[in-house]
Amino acid sequence: MTDKTDTVDLITGHRRMRRNRKADWSRRMVQENRLTVDDLIWPIFVVPGTNIVEPIDAMPGVNRMSIDKAVEAAKLAADLGIPALATFPNVDISLRDDTGSNSLAANNLINETTRAIKKAVPNIGVITDVALDPFTSHGHDGILRGGEIVNDETVAQIARAAVMQADAGADIIAPSDMMDGRVGAIRRALDAAGHQNVGIMAYATKFASAFYGPYREAIGTSGLLKGDKKTYYIDPANGTEAMRDAALDVEEGADMLMVKPGLPYLDICWRMKESFGLPVFAYQVSGEYSQIKAAAANGWIDGERVMLETLLAFKRAGCDGILSYFAVDVARILAKR
Ligand code: PBG
Repeated sequence: MTDKTDTVDLITGHRRMRRNRKADWSRRMVQENRLTVDDLIWPIFVVPGTNIVEPIDAMPGVNRMSIDKAVEAAKLAADLGIPALATFPNVDISLRDDTGSNSLAANNLINETTRAIKKAVPNIGVITDVALDPFTSHGHDGILRGGEIVNDETVAQIARAAVMQADAGADIIAPSDMMDGRVGAIRRALDAAGHQNVGIMAYATKFASAFYGPYREAIGTSGLLKGDKKTYYIDPANGTEAMRDAALDVEEGADMLMVKPGLPYLDICWRMKESFGLPVFAYQVSGEYSQIKAAAANGWIDGERVMLETLLAFKRAGCDGILSYFAVDVARILAKR
């Protein structure tokens, strides 16, 4: 009875968790979640011009590409089996103004990108962000009037821009602006224009996060942004408010929900999946990507293993997929397995 083994037996009885963990084959048998290529959405950055592949300092391994190169990237992604791309334009500074009027140009950078990709690679999904920040001279997601981001006027413009994105061939419209009522307005506008089959992936819970820093360098808004986005994004302290906000998007007709950023908000992913049953996606945002890259470059972590572990964590939290700048790297690793 004083033997150490007996002591363990008395405590655990027949309950030994380590039996299933004892070998690779048994661990594979009991593995609950798996990452597949179908879980990946690849966000890409587009710039005007041709034959441009321009590194983004704050996001090692990620480039801004001209449309021709974005088409090549889309082919690569489709060959790897990645289901969809999310496109983000770095709009020429001369086209940015207070109201983001270039968002309403049928041939703007984001719409030309969609046209080119859908023409060359029709079997990959194209998800377009309809927020105004790539088009505004102040870097905000909406129209700025008298120091305020005005809601309803912004929503009306975003709904028109969404129709143009759908006209260009976008499969899913993803509003990331967090204006009130935009999902319903976009749905009505799409339907009125005959785009009943174009879906909406609502950035249902977008938090006022510090993790977006590198992205703002990527689309050229970091130097422009005055103030912060706290009057429209959600306070990182608030989970219940996030759920109420997501519930409105569901009522207004969202087909899919997104949580952004990703890893610090896994509780929200889980609550959303449990509450609404809609497909839930997480956006592993630029800052999450860059911190893994930076630590790996310093030899402080194993970058590949950390990357795979973070993506698996999203699956465990109930996500149906992840927008990740690692998508191509991961797809290549999964293809080798
Ligand atoms: C804004 C927008 C942001 C991101 C995508 N669209 C946030 C912001 O700039 O405030 C962030 C994506 C990332 O960090 O990877 N509509």
